Amino acid sequence: MDKLLLPVLLGTNRKNRNSVHPARWLVGEMEKRAEIQTRLFDASDFGLPHDDYGQGIKHLFPEWRDTIIQADGLVIVTPEYNHGYPGVLKAVLDLLLKEYIHKPVAFVGVSAGRWGGTRVIEAMVPMVRELGLAVTFSDLNFPSVQNKFDADGKLLDQVFEKLAKEFLDELVWMSRTLKWGRENVPSKHHQSAAK
Ligand SMILES: Cc1cc2nc3c(=O)[nH]c(=O)nc-3n(C[C@H](O)[C@H](O)[C@H](O)COP(=O)(O)O)c2cc1C
Repeated sequence: MDKLLLPVLLGTNRKNRNSVHPARWLVGEMEKRAEIQTRLFDASDFGLPHDDYGQGIKHLFPEWRDTIIQADGLVIVTPEYNHGYPGVLKAVLDLLLKEYIHKPVAFVGVSAGRWGGTRVIEAMVPMVRELGLAVTFSDLNFPSVQNKFDADGKLLDQVFEKLAKEFLDELVWMSRTLKWGRENVPSKHHQSAAK
C-alpha cells in the first residue's frame, strides 16, 4: 500500500514552548511506522505578515500549500491558551481552504494544567469543520507537559507510546478511508473521483 503523507503542525510560536517536545517526539514515533511519511511544520517558521491574512497570501507559503495538497491527513499539536488556541495556529490554518477538504485531522493537546488540552481541542473542532477537515476521535493529550519530557525532549512516561499508537492507528484508518473516498466517490470537491 502507498505511504500516507501525514504532516504535523506545531501551533505555537511562544519562546520556550513546551509543546515542541510532544511534537518532535510524535514525529519520531510516526517515522517508525512504515505506512506513514511525515514532516514537521512549525508555526514559528512561517514568518506571517502583520498586515495581511488568509488564502490571498498562500503563494508566500508554497511548502505548506503543496504539502497539504499532497497530504492524506494532518496532525495539529496545540497548546491550550486560556482554553483556546494560539492566534498564530489559526493564522496558519487560514492560509488554505479547499486543500483540506475531506482529509482527517488528529489533535494533540498540550497543557500545563491537568486536562491535557481537552478544552482547546473542543474549541478547535467547530473551526476545522469549516475548513472541510474531518476530526478523528482519538486525541493525544499531554497534561502537566512540563513533567512529561526532560530538558532534551526525552519522554519520561512510557505510557504515551501506547497512547500514540492508538492515536496513530485511528488517524491511519481515517486517512486510508477518506483517501479512497476522495479518489473513488464522486464529489464536486474531488476531480479524481469517478463520475
Ligand atoms: C497565554 C497563555 C495561556 C494559557 N492558558 C492555559 C490554560 O487555559 N490551561 C492550561 O492548562 N494551561 C494554560 N497555559 C499554560 C500552557 O498550557 C503551558 O505553557 C504548556 O506548556 C503548553 O504551552 P507551551 O507550548 O506554550 O509551553 C497558558 C499559557 C499561556 C502562555
